[in-house]
Amino acid sequence: MKHEHYMDMNRLSDWSVDQINELLDVCLLLKEMEEKGVRLPLLKNVSLAMMFDQQSTRTRVSFETAMEQLGGHAMFLDGKSLHAGTGQETIHETAAIISSMADAVMIRSLSQQVIDEFVAASTVPVISGMSCAEFRSDGFGSQEQHHPTQVIADLITMIERKPKDKQLSDLTFMWLGDGADGFDCVFMDHLSLFPRLGIRVICAAPKKYWPSDEMLAKCRAQAAEDGNGEIICTDDPLQYASETDFFYTGVVNYHKFGVSEEEAFQVFYPKYQINEELMAHAPKTAWVLHYLPGNRNWEMTDAVWDGPQSALLPLGENRLYAQRGILVYILWPLRRNTSPALE
Ligand code: CP
Repeated sequence: MKHEHYMDMNRLSDWSVDQINELLDVCLLLKEMEEKGVRLPLLKNVSLAMMFDQQSTRTRVSFETAMEQLGGHAMFLDGKSLHAGTGQETIHETAAIISSMADAVMIRSLSQQVIDEFVAASTVPVISGMSCAEFRSDGFGSQEQHHPTQVIADLITMIERKPKDKQLSDLTFMWLGDGADGFDCVFMDHLSLFPRLGIRVICAAPKKYWPSDEMLAKCRAQAAEDGNGEIICTDDPLQYASETDFFYTGVVNYHKFGVSEEEAFQVFYPKYQINEELMAHAPKTAWVLHYLPGNRNWEMTDAVWDGPQSALLPLGENRLYAQRGILVYILWPLRRNTSPALE
């Protein structure tokens, strides 16, 4: 049975703005403590099962390290080595078994539907480690895709690097690349969450690759209930470059729209690339971000990737502080309320 303090991190739209802000405070506090040499075993004896059916460097290492640093344990479960999906065990059964043993589950899947089924059957909190269908035309995945833990690390990085005189709600964030529904799981979460925090989101893409009117209406309606951040789509990144605090890009999965590598390059680059020309129009205080891994000289030129306004590696490192905060925020209340003997 699910505990009254049970909380998943599946869709960030299930989290209130207050909860997101509290979570960010926890992440930043734990990072500040780490910098002062203080590391508390807040999740001593707690176990996290980590299921992956896609490759990962940052997500896997950050969750595993975070659990170890918090005094708990993480187990890596490669999707190929589990029974789920073989026809002998359903996702429901796998979720029931794993959650009867582990204290929490982190799951990365090609399909949001698999994560949803797992969440529904799990008796412990589930954290989405990403749902990103690489080849939607092959029948995997769905239009809906998310990468919530990435977006929490993005926010930590933005809080740390924003101009001192600005709040989150004063920021302008520009996404460059493919903005269409279901193409980039990270941007989909930026689009739905950031305006709720008051952040102005600019989607700079060829018009064909803008989010749908339906998606924009949904995100604007959600924003109107919270931070009321503006959402703008443009096919001219230079129009808003001088107002942008953070430029963000990601991999264009050209397989998804059935064109060749050369054709995809011509559609998006260099116009929707983070490059020297764009940065010449940007404030000196602006930063460039990418969730990584990525393609040098496709979505971002080498010179900017390694340049003075690049926060690519600090963002990668912040995945660790995001996971620590997420794990503590979700699991600490459960541990405190269910296992007083472990205090
Ligand atoms: N950004 C991200 O999720 O990286 P990994 O695929 O390496 O986990």
